[in-house]
Amino acid sequence: MSSASQPHPALSRRLKVATIGGDGIGPEVIDATIPVLVEAAALDGVSVEITELDWGGELLLRTGRAMPIDGPNQLRAFDAVLFGAVGRPDVVDHELIWGLIIGLRQALGLSLNLRPSSSWPGVPSPLLDGTGIDLLIVRENSEGEYAGIGGRTHVNSKREIAIEVAVHTRETIERIARFSFERARSRRGRLSLVTKSNVMRYGYTLWDEVVADVAREYGDVDYEVVLADAMAARLVERPTSLDVMLCGNLFGDVLSDLACSLTGGLGLAPSANVTYDRSAPGVYEPVHGSAPTIAGLGTANPCACLLSAAMLLEDNGMPRGAVAIQCAVSATLSNASGRTPDLGGDARTTDVATAVIKELSNSR
Ligand code: NAD
Ligand code: IPM
Ligand code: MN
Repeated sequence: MSSASQPHPALSRRLKVATIGGDGIGPEVIDATIPVLVEAAALDGVSVEITELDWGGELLLRTGRAMPIDGPNQLRAFDAVLFGAVGRPDVVDHELIWGLIIGLRQALGLSLNLRPSSSWPGVPSPLLDGTGIDLLIVRENSEGEYAGIGGRTHVNSKREIAIEVAVHTRETIERIARFSFERARSRRGRLSLVTKSNVMRYGYTLWDEVVADVAREYGDVDYEVVLADAMAARLVERPTSLDVMLCGNLFGDVLSDLACSLTGGLGLAPSANVTYDRSAPGVYEPVHGSAPTIAGLGTANPCACLLSAAMLLEDNGMPRGAVAIQCAVSATLSNASGRTPDLGGDARTTDVATAVIKELSNSR
């Protein structure tokens, strides 16, 4: 653990942020984001104290654990966490992932996962017309197919069985439904529930019923239910018809990669893992993973992490800093010189960070 920056004496409030670079490109995008976060928070009169944690694959190889046993509790001492990515080819993927990011989501009760995707001026989309997309995936983040219940038996024999149990609870569905309707109300007033209740007769029928009940309290919100496979097609064919998409855990994961691909890809997709009542610090992270094939090249797009930092500031009462990061990223992306190779440019991670800092200083 190392404390990277000292509180700024001239700024009145202090924000304690833990950063977890993790694996692959994670540390690269976190390094690019820290100075931007510090600079942007100052616009709201807030000084950021950063504590860098070395959790991830390397720690697991060294100690047998990707984070300390009391890792989630250690994080409770912070206002927020900025997370890079986890996963490396020489470690069994699910061990590392359950040992860190899923472990944190579960232990801290981060049952809400917010994943916005919107078109950026000048950023190419694979769609013929990729303009005007502005949607928010609200993903249930603690249950469903990610509950972690199951097992394997008769391993390596012909009778081998694997069971993976999905868990869906009325209380969780009702809470996330209410949150999603409120969000839809504050946006363009449309909510699409994604399920697969034509096949899954227990879990997703419960979603359909509970969300329909909540919908009755929100007559002003235009509500629809779309099956997950149809939603994949709808995202490609008519993405501007979508506003808030409420998804269970697995569909939210899959559809968020699809949604962000329409607006510039994983390098631009931020996310927030949060509680409803701020009973634990939020973990803000890019949607992307550790991208091992480009790790160490210095070409990773830091924008997803920068925009995750903007979500962190917004949630922690720093709206000026949040908007300033979004505007600075947008201005940077609008120049070809501010685009990394995933966007067809040849900028390096540090070029983008430098350009964003320069844009930020114009906000002062
Ligand atoms: P990935 O998101 O790491 O990469 C998918 C593709 O997108 C690759 O071509 C990669 O080069 C590209 N890409 C991703 N982020 C980019 C960026 N910022 N700039 C430029 N290009 C970028 O997904 P994957 O390859 O399926 O997974 C790699 C590892 O990451 C696996 O171990 C996986 O389990 C893990 N993973 C972790 C997280 C997380 O930490 N939250 C998320 C997804 C995947
Ligand atoms: C994501 C990732 C994670 C998920 C993995 C790494 C656990 O794909 O954040 O989208 O499936 O939630
Ligand atoms: Mn994912």
